[in-house]
Amino acid sequence: MMRRARILGLGSYLPARRVTNEELAQRVDTSDEWITQRTGIKARHVAAEGETTSMLATRAAERALENAGLKAADIDLIVLATATPDYTFPAAATQVQAALGITHGVAFDVAAVCSGFVFALSTAEKFLIAGSAKRALVIGAETFSRILDWEDRTTCVLFGDGAGAAVLEAYDAPGTMQDQGILTTHLRSDGRHREKLYVDGGPSSTKTVGHLRMEGKEVFKHAVGMITDVIVDAFAATGYSAETIDWFVPHQANRRIITASADKLGIAPEKVVITVQDHGNTSAASIPLALDAAMRDGRIKRGDVVLIEAMGGGFTWGSALFRY
Ligand code: ACO
Repeated sequence: MMRRARILGLGSYLPARRVTNEELAQRVDTSDEWITQRTGIKARHVAAEGETTSMLATRAAERALENAGLKAADIDLIVLATATPDYTFPAAATQVQAALGITHGVAFDVAAVCSGFVFALSTAEKFLIAGSAKRALVIGAETFSRILDWEDRTTCVLFGDGAGAAVLEAYDAPGTMQDQGILTTHLRSDGRHREKLYVDGGPSSTKTVGHLRMEGKEVFKHAVGMITDVIVDAFAATGYSAETIDWFVPHQANRRIITASADKLGIAPEKVVITVQDHGNTSAASIPLALDAAMRDGRIKRGDVVLIEAMGGGFTWGSALFRY
């Protein structure tokens, strides 16, 4: 027997406003053709004035709780991954905690940008298997529209807003690779790459929020190698392979990065969940948004083996493999 953390429910939320490539092309010098060809993105959602990251996160969390058949009071840990919190402090997770009416347990944020959901999931798993908490909400939520330079066509077309959440529970599992729940996680970072993808402001440097800056080609160059490394680690740790997993749910930054990674690993295209066309890159929210979409449309079923991975600012990158 061993303690494991299993996913009881999923939920997500997208702001109502959907912005198409054609609409963006009226604001900056770009085209639907360029964006589609280079990224696969057709549209993204943008939060309304006054609609904050913690509000999106709370909606996603409520839906995940409903899907899990639990009440907010059942949760004693909230780990929220975001690079766009409502305030410099307190942590957005504490605002979600308050909005859900939870007054016990602990809530905190994790900062790993696009890899945030994998980092938050891995962190929550460790609390659960150590016995520090019983049931966790793991949330990825972002309002990247607030940190984009809307004059910079090389970045503003790529990102979107949204939130996704998973409810996790600790339980005593037989301790085999047939167990339900998280079977392995692998997190990495290398801070030497800061200038390739960063926000040019912050409380301690400029006293401003700043805007996202990216050397797209440089990020692309590193992405596929880093992604495959942590996936190879996940396969080695569990004995699963490209052939024996059921679903590959990657971070949704760019269709070309996703298909290049899947090809390199030998993962069949029909196992790859892609939502980037509808959501753009929602950073920490992209994986739980994609998981929720594939669970609700009937693709991901109970008992399926799911591989997730992400890579982003820092650089940070990571993978997790679980049986749903
Ligand atoms: N519309 C039209 N033309 C554009 C646009 C735009 N939105 N943006 C750039 N261009 C132009 C450039 O100015 C350049 O023109 P030039 O040749 O006259 O100089 C031309 O298009 C080619 O630009 P590149 O930057 O070379 O285009 P590239 O093929 O590298 O595609 C992209 C750019 C899509 C950003 C790509 O590098 C990429 O996907 N990088 C990965 C970055 C990423 O996904 N980051 C997400 C965050 S990290 C993560 O989540 C993993």
